[in-house]
Amino acid sequence: MKYKMELTQEEREILEGKHGETLQKVMKSVVLYGETFGARRLVNLDGPVHLVTSFGIPILEPVFDMMDELIRNGLETEKKFTVDPRPLDYENVKANLIQKFVFKIMYGKQKEYEEQLKAVGLKDDKAFTCACYLPEVGNIPKKGDVLAWAESSAVVYANSVLGARTNRNSGIIELLSGIIGKTPEFGLLTDEGRMATWLIEVKTSRLPNAQVLGSAIGMKVVEDVPYIVGLDRFLGEGISDDTSDYLKDMGAASASNGAVGLYHVENITPEAVEKGRELLKEGYKTYVIDDAEIDRIIKSYPVMWKNENAKPRLCFIGCPHLSLNQLYDWTDKISRELQKKGQSKVKIRTILSAPPDVIEKFKKDNRAYERLMSTGTKLTYICPLMYMNNPICSKQPVITNSNKLRTYTTSRFYLDDEILEKIVKGY
Ligand code: F3S
Repeated sequence: MKYKMELTQEEREILEGKHGETLQKVMKSVVLYGETFGARRLVNLDGPVHLVTSFGIPILEPVFDMMDELIRNGLETEKKFTVDPRPLDYENVKANLIQKFVFKIMYGKQKEYEEQLKAVGLKDDKAFTCACYLPEVGNIPKKGDVLAWAESSAVVYANSVLGARTNRNSGIIELLSGIIGKTPEFGLLTDEGRMATWLIEVKTSRLPNAQVLGSAIGMKVVEDVPYIVGLDRFLGEGISDDTSDYLKDMGAASASNGAVGLYHVENITPEAVEKGRELLKEGYKTYVIDDAEIDRIIKSYPVMWKNENAKPRLCFIGCPHLSLNQLYDWTDKISRELQKKGQSKVKIRTILSAPPDVIEKFKKDNRAYERLMSTGTKLTYICPLMYMNNPICSKQPVITNSNKLRTYTTSRFYLDDEILEKIVKGY
């Protein structure tokens, strides 16, 4: 077969099958994927991959077969990788008999699949989170690192906040890239692909909710690169813990309400600090976001509940997974709100989601952990989307402060203060 890409001697030999049939198929998949997007060559990965496919759904039979073949041939990723959250945690996110039956069908191969992940290079038992770049988890790329990640919220964070370079790869391609230690060079890996075609002017009177701002940007620019100005008025220059949390949530919303893989924020994100408005491509378009636009966006979200006036049964906070900073913040907010109302427990089943490593660290602070537990709130490591994405769970009236969860499920979006009020009052 003739390939258009410039290939090294070693890459050609692998494609000719000189290093075995399985590695030949791995290389061929990555090369053909790159050629589809016009990549000129493969480039070496600088950091571990992050996988999106974390769930053992039996219908993914070809994936299980492929994993078996990789394992039989002793192939694994060059660097230990992280993966998206697990789907289930009955201890903290309880399910009734029918739901358990559905989950048994949906995630029936979870145990076997996790064994396969371990065999092909999974970092450890706690490496299941979409926020793999948090310090407690440790898959933290450096500026300029070439990566092959697939989870959209992690991709946009790595590119924008850390200044690393990864495309929004398809699931499984990121694993195959990790095995050959290379990824095709196109799109967000190139200087040209990182130029902005949109100027976003934030002209609100106060810091907009991160999830709503991200949603507005995502719906407008779709998969283009935006250059955002006006946020440094509220967030200050550079990246503090609060700013990185804000950008994490804003990015996840822009990546799911649209398909943003990279944004620049003036005076804040590394490439914008370095190059400023030189990052704007000639002929860029402008989108102004003011208070009225934020209100319009919130009002545009459809309510997917059967009964709009139903009492919420469940509340999910932490999509993408919460940072340690956010976990402390929610513990504080929930406790204070309850105290203010003279109550001890939340009235709606409330679940906070965070990476296993963050939960472990939080639990070591016994006082804070007990404070959260005493409110009746549960703490888990699951992906709320994987819990809700079935006909039984999606019938429940669920509320969330996540715009990604709102987009992909029937859950209803509320701002943080509204969520707080609802979980304390019970409606
Ligand atoms: Fe993470 Fe699942 Fe939300 S992977 S971003 S918690 S949909």
